[in-house]
Amino acid sequence: MSEPLRIALAGLGTVGGGVIRLLEANAALIARRAGRPITISAISARNRSKDRGVDLSGYAWEDDMVILGERPDVDVVVELVGGADGPALALARTTFEAGKALVTANKAMIAHHGLELATKAEAAKVAFKFEAAVAGGIPVIKALKEGAAANHIDRIYGILNGTCNYILSTMEDTGRDFADVLAEAQAKGFAESDPSFDIDGIDAAHKLAILSSIAFGTAVDFGPVAATGIRRVLAADIAQADALGYYIRLIGMAETEFDAAGQRRLFQRVHPMLVHRDHPLAHVDGATNAVVAEGNFVGRLLFQGAGAGDGPTASAVVADLIDIARGDIGAPFSIPAAELEQARPADSGHRTGKAYLRFTVADRPGVLAEITAAMRDAGVSIESLIQKGRAAVGSTETVLVAMVTHEGPESAIAEALRLLDGSPSLAAPPLVMHILED
Ligand code: HSE
Repeated sequence: MSEPLRIALAGLGTVGGGVIRLLEANAALIARRAGRPITISAISARNRSKDRGVDLSGYAWEDDMVILGERPDVDVVVELVGGADGPALALARTTFEAGKALVTANKAMIAHHGLELATKAEAAKVAFKFEAAVAGGIPVIKALKEGAAANHIDRIYGILNGTCNYILSTMEDTGRDFADVLAEAQAKGFAESDPSFDIDGIDAAHKLAILSSIAFGTAVDFGPVAATGIRRVLAADIAQADALGYYIRLIGMAETEFDAAGQRRLFQRVHPMLVHRDHPLAHVDGATNAVVAEGNFVGRLLFQGAGAGDGPTASAVVADLIDIARGDIGAPFSIPAAELEQARPADSGHRTGKAYLRFTVADRPGVLAEITAAMRDAGVSIESLIQKGRAAVGSTETVLVAMVTHEGPESAIAEALRLLDGSPSLAAPPLVMHILED
């Protein structure tokens, strides 16, 4: 058997520990599949003395993780530290400058600096792989780069954040409100103590930016990804959606389209959507992720599995290492970095579809007429409307008015909300969720 592939591990948290355990537990199988053993030369983490439940005594320790990229006994650095900038980015740059390969699970770093890092890796003719950065254990990047490589991908979308999916599906099962379920998820360790990246849709937006680059051959562009999280989804919204035949899921959606001048535009959005109960994503529950890719020859592909956790994420990291051990360098985003298209962001206004709108309004005569007049004036056609019982917002008695629109342009809904903006009838800002039918 050939020389081992020697790796360095930066970051020994949940995923780092999982990588060590996986490389040990499946060493013989991995060596046979990779054509050579994969061994760990050196490690680094913020805290050396922490007990991680794995024996680290056989590995050299570096206090400064950036040094890992320069060690002569290392072929590949595995970066599991996280963060868009800081030590992770310094390590990635050093690794490529030293002519070594990098495997990372760091979605934030790739979403912000993916093009620069891919350019550096390609110049150094080394691998830069990040299967674990998107949807944890689901091999969706590999599927897009290899199995579906012959297709134009028309649309890619899915459930990209397990924390949000756990919260929404638990709200659905129990009828409890967001804050209550979030607190329980934090107590059980499912949600971070600062959950904002997850629940505000940023984590999913990072993953979506990476997926859309690989799917469409466009330069990764996180800036224009519109992200709305799940903080404002009420148990009442979930109940209304259910009554109408929908489940609420946080969906990351990316599509390319052509504008009037024939220029390709990139639409990327993360927001809670009502998903029709016949759609496969409606039935993805708990902390699971799922990705749908629509190819022009293969049709609809659905990938589903664990989006986080030590085992699934380690599985994706080690799959990348096996590819590198086999000699697969490949272009990080499937197409060489210099050839990725710089597609401008799409204008969402002309997108058409059905939407769910929920208003929290003062309970007095004329309020419903005011809302429906705004809909009429903006050209929004209402398919159904439900008014739900009273609740107090401050000293005001309020009711919830939920409606589903007929198919129409998003710009008309935006115009209706603009007409209602500042109305004393509204006790809270309205919530709009678009609808995913098929
Ligand atoms: N925090 C993420 C989630 C997993 O909840 O899905 C890592 O991206």
